[in-house]
Parts: sequence; C-alpha cells; structure tokens
Amino acid sequence: MPERLFVFDTTLRDGEQVPGCQLNSIEKIQVAKALEALGVDVIEAGFPVSSPGDFNSVVEISRAVTWPTICALTRAVEKDIDVAAESLKYAKRGRIHTGIGTSDYHIRYKFNSNQEEILERAIACVKYAKRYTEDVEFYAEDAGRTDNEYLARIVEAVIKAGATVVNIPDTTGYCLPDEYGAKIRYLMENVNAIDKAVLSTHCHNDLGMATANTIQGVLNGARQVEVTINGIGERAGNTSLEEVVMIFKSHKETDIVTNVNANRIYGLSRMVSSLMNMPVQPNKAIVGRNAFAHSSGIHQDGVLKHRESYEIIDPKDVGIDDNAIVLTARSGRAALKHRLQLLGTELEQDKLDVVYDDFLKLADRKKNITDDDVLMLVGKDRAAMQRIKLEYLQVTSGIGLKPVASICLLIAGERFEAAASGNGPVDAAIKAVKSIINRSMTIREFLIQAIDKGSDDMGKVHMQVEHNGNIYYGFSANTDIIAASAEAFIDAINKFVK
Ligand code: KIV
Ligand code: ZN
Repeated sequence: MPERLFVFDTTLRDGEQVPGCQLNSIEKIQVAKALEALGVDVIEAGFPVSSPGDFNSVVEISRAVTWPTICALTRAVEKDIDVAAESLKYAKRGRIHTGIGTSDYHIRYKFNSNQEEILERAIACVKYAKRYTEDVEFYAEDAGRTDNEYLARIVEAVIKAGATVVNIPDTTGYCLPDEYGAKIRYLMENVNAIDKAVLSTHCHNDLGMATANTIQGVLNGARQVEVTINGIGERAGNTSLEEVVMIFKSHKETDIVTNVNANRIYGLSRMVSSLMNMPVQPNKAIVGRNAFAHSSGIHQDGVLKHRESYEIIDPKDVGIDDNAIVLTARSGRAALKHRLQLLGTELEQDKLDVVYDDFLKLADRKKNITDDDVLMLVGKDRAAMQRIKLEYLQVTSGIGLKPVASICLLIAGERFEAAASGNGPVDAAIKAVKSIINRSMTIREFLIQAIDKGSDDMGKVHMQVEHNGNIYYGFSANTDIIAASAEAFIDAINKFVK
C-alpha cells in the first residue's frame, strides 16, 4: 500500500517574503484557488500579525478555499497566536504554525537565552495555540543546525503538549542530504510517541540542496513536505513543489504518493511567475522553458524515435501541451479563454474583453503569442490603476544621432510633458521621467530579458529604484524595450509617490 505524503505549500508565506514579489489579496486568492485545484493538502496563507494586509489575506483565503487546510504562521508569542486564530475564523480546517529558534545561534544571539528556557517557551506556545485549534504545527527554526539530542527533547516535549505536526526546518540551507536524512531518522528512532505527530521537512536552497534534503527527509520518515511553486522564497528559495512531486511520481519504487494533479503544475508555475514578476530560469527542472527542449541533433533524433530515450517525464504530465491551439491575430475570445483556463486563470466576461483587445493589439505586432505573453496581458490592469501613467513616449536615436526622448505622464489625471537627451534611448527616456518627478531616486538594478526567442518578442524589464534609503521594485513587459524600461521605472515610482 503506497504511503501518503502531505504537501504543504508556502508560496503565499515564505515565497511571498521575497522582496518585490508581494501580491494583493485578490491575487493571493487566485493563487490559493489554483493551489486547491492542484491538490495541495495545506496552504500557508500568511503571517497575520506581521501586517493588516497579511491578516486580511488569511481571512479572505479562508473564505475562498474549501478543501485544503489553511495555515497561519506565528512566533512563540501569545499575541501572534491570538491574531492568527482570529484570522483563521472562517477556515473550514485551520492550522496554527508556531515555533521558535532552537540552534545555538538562535538561542544565544537572537534570544540571549538558554536551552531550558527555549524548551519551556516551545511547550508554552503549543499549549497556548491548542486553546484555539486541534491542528497545531510546531517549527524548530534552524533545526538544520540544532544538535540532534536537544532537538529530540524539543520534539518530544511539543508532541506531549499537543503538536500534531512538527516541522524540522533547514532554515539556512546548510545541511547535506545525508545529514538531514539522518536527523529525521534520529528523531523517528529517539522521540517517544513520534507516531502521534507527522514530521515535516522545510528546506531552503542556499547550497542548492533543498530538494535533495527534502527527499532524504521523506525517505527517512517525514510525511509532510513544505514547498513553494517554482522554488521561490527567501534568498535562494525553498524546495520546489514541482520537483518533489515529480520525483516521487517518477520513482514508483519509493511507494510514496501525493494528492497533487501534476498536469496543473505548468499553468500554476506560469501564474505565480507572472503575478510575482519573478522569471523562471530557463533551465529550471520541470517548469523551465528548456526543461523539455532538445537542441542537439542526437537528442532530437533520439526523442523522435522513442521519446523516453531522452525524456524521463512526458511534458503533458505536467501540463505542457505541445498541441495546444496556437494563438494568433485570428484567434477568437474562446481560444483565448481556453488558454487562460489551461493556465489556471478564469476571467469575468468584461475583463476578458479588455484582455482580448490587448491581445489583438499584441498579435498585430507579434506572430505567435506565448503563454507568458497571455499572462502578462492579464496582469496589465495593475498598471492601469496606478496614479502615475505613461501617456506617450517618443524616442529618436540611431548611429550619429543624440538620443532624445519626449514623454507625457498622466499624474492623477493631469498631463505633464518633458523632453530629455541621454547617452542612449533608455537613458533619455528615464531622464525625461525624472525631470517631471522631481525626487531623489537612483536605479540600483536594471534587467532586460526576452520572454521567448524571436526579434518580435516582448522584453521584460525588472528594476530596483532607491528612494530615501529604501528599495522599490518596478516591472513591465512590452515589445518596445525602451517603453518597457520607462514603464518599469514608473511602476517603481508609483510605489513611493502617493
Ligand atoms: O525557514 C524557516 O525556518 C521558516 C520557519 C518560520 C518555518 O520559514
Ligand atoms: Zn522558511
């Protein structure tokens, strides 16, 4: 009989902590519903005490989602637990995820405390959370660098206090796979009443070992994995959901199964990437653009003769449909709607009409419309709501000419025009914007990427702009990369000019 592995998705909590990836409540609900359709068991919806926005998102996701357990994060602090319990009041199944750092680094330097005091606080926070809900998960932060004997004492004590799941995070992504697997095995063998709780993995990817560590954790007894879509998360990210799910699907000999509908993986990966403005690296396992692209002649020949010669996964199994109807300027609303549904996005008719108009304009400029293009168009209405908008931009540049940009911005409905020259067309456009928005601001990072391949492609621009010591993130996509650069700059400015 296969063993069931529970999938705990933390895209909306650990994933969303990435600077510049913040979603609004509507976007979070969209992702949560797609996670529900994907079949995850638990959705970590936020850290409610951290901000009113996070609190509201947990409330709204609890209302919107039916089947998965909704989880809220807290520190080992009563106020945090009270607020988390309040945010979960509409959840059909709610879980409080509370915990404290257990490594010497955390005990000495973060808490200026000692092991016995931390043990008491761990027990107390679980008992306190139990007042509100039966389902309490405890995390031993930095368990990866916590001495196993002490960790076993903590785990035993929190299970006795009522924890139903115990999370063993490799918070800093430090462990080697063997070491992490041995840690889970040690707990399985040395903690009394370990069968009263589920052990959970939560691995970060600082040394590129998050997935390997997670797999070792499961092979040694963990039965819950904490993961994110596309592996997003703090610093180098978390373990990626798609990798873990497809590893167990591919390795039947492990006899481990999840509830995930793998054919929804690709659509959700694209949705998260697009909503969070977080590009997926082309060679990313399972969901990267090149994950199933065979470029060498030998490989192409082998795949054509027998797919499995070079492919261990059928791309269709993760929702990549090579035969999908190609979207062009002649495609109707129904084809666009169908493609959006495949990508996990349902639009109301009026929104669909707007996206369809934009789609036709883009299709006039670009022969084949990719999934990323379509998702980009869906996200465009975020720009339409902004206070500062780019009304027009005209640039002259070329060999032997001094680049000059003329620009018109609409600020709260009022028109402002300016012109500037620069050492290139982008520089001229940025200087023209700066001459209207007269604030100190410095571009700290500026990244232009093509989405697909051809010269008619959309360019995506990510920008970091510093203003008064803070960093603001801007994003845009356009077939005109100068316009995309100006729009990304304006997107960042909209975050601090109120
Ligand atoms: O990485 C970590 O330790 C965490 C905990 C808060 C669960 O994210
Ligand atoms: Zn984490």
